[in-house]
Amino acid sequence: MPQTIIAGIGHYVPAQTITNTDLLKFMDTSDEWIQERTGIKERHYAHRTAETTTTMGVEAAKNAITHAGIKKEDIDFIIFATLSPDYYFPGCGVLLQRALELDEIGALDIRNQCSGFVYALSVADQFIKTGMYKNILLVASEKHSFGLDFSTRGRNISVIFGDAAAAVILQPTEKENQGILSTHLHSDGKSAEILAMYNPGTHANHWQEKAYAHFDDAAIGEMFMSHAMIDEAQNFPNMDGPAVFKKAVVKFPEVIMEALQKNNFTPADLNLLIPHQANLRIAQFVQQKLKLRDDQVFNNIEKYGNTTAASIPLALSEAYQAGRIKEGDLVCMAAFGSGFTWASALMRW
Ligand code: COA
Repeated sequence: MPQTIIAGIGHYVPAQTITNTDLLKFMDTSDEWIQERTGIKERHYAHRTAETTTTMGVEAAKNAITHAGIKKEDIDFIIFATLSPDYYFPGCGVLLQRALELDEIGALDIRNQCSGFVYALSVADQFIKTGMYKNILLVASEKHSFGLDFSTRGRNISVIFGDAAAAVILQPTEKENQGILSTHLHSDGKSAEILAMYNPGTHANHWQEKAYAHFDDAAIGEMFMSHAMIDEAQNFPNMDGPAVFKKAVVKFPEVIMEALQKNNFTPADLNLLIPHQANLRIAQFVQQKLKLRDDQVFNNIEKYGNTTAASIPLALSEAYQAGRIKEGDLVCMAAFGSGFTWASALMRW
């Protein structure tokens, strides 16, 4: 059975840099608070009108296609991971297919938030292993800056997130001991409301008091998104930061160890761990727990913030370009986020 390799990788970061101090224009926060709690110094925001989640994904895809040395006509399947799509529906996959003028190939959208890339990688891996596809374009992109509460009310979330895109081309190889060795996917829906955007949605207050929509006086046509919901800022993400932190520091090491043990490795064997860039403090905790050296872990959150689905491939792409990943290296990617969902992928580069 063939193994799946990353044959090409690329990323795209929008030009506009927003420092922590820039955020003071909108909210009561400080560079010191943000750096101390998250490690973030700056993030990038997409152009408000000229760039979308899809257009950034297109740029990242072009870079990955060039790096792989293939023609876009060679691509036989698209997977697009994001939580900030251009439209509620259809997904970004078809918009990317249109923008890149690809053949009428399949386009699958993945909605697993911060774990989106690793989930998508796992899906792609199955398609490659079974021989169904030979060149899968996997794109992860986020335009968070369009959907955050920039008032002091939303500061615990808005300071963390940034915009970016990254893409990989996945191909089969018959070489032994190369490519994706295993992937591990998990979820726990008990915590779904801890990090979520409740509205607009169709839940009709079905699940939990916390995740409510104010439509008592709304007309039937307003129930999806009422004026009251907007007045109450219900159209922004919600997060219980400390609860996310507590769960993340348990699940990250667990899912990394799961991948290592499945393949008879220990943390000492790892050449590089790419943790989802949620918070530098979480990554440092995981590093300590697994007794990894600094050169075994790659972080870039200080420059980009948390770019959700794009965070792991963006870090992977930068690490690769910086010469931190060489052929034969053992690389682990691990993610945790909203859902909760968490996942890992172990690969021999
Ligand atoms: N600037 C200044 N003060 C802020 C702030 C900001 N941007 N955001 C929150 N605060 C304040 C709070 O209002 C609170 O004030 P109070 O003590 O007067 O009530 C205080 O800081 C502490 O808030 P808390 O939420 O307990 O802070 P924390 O130490 O847990 O740090 C996070 C907040 C969000 C940085 C942290 O919980 C975290 O990183 N969690 C994980 C989040 C994550 O990774 N999310 C993505 C998952 S993929």
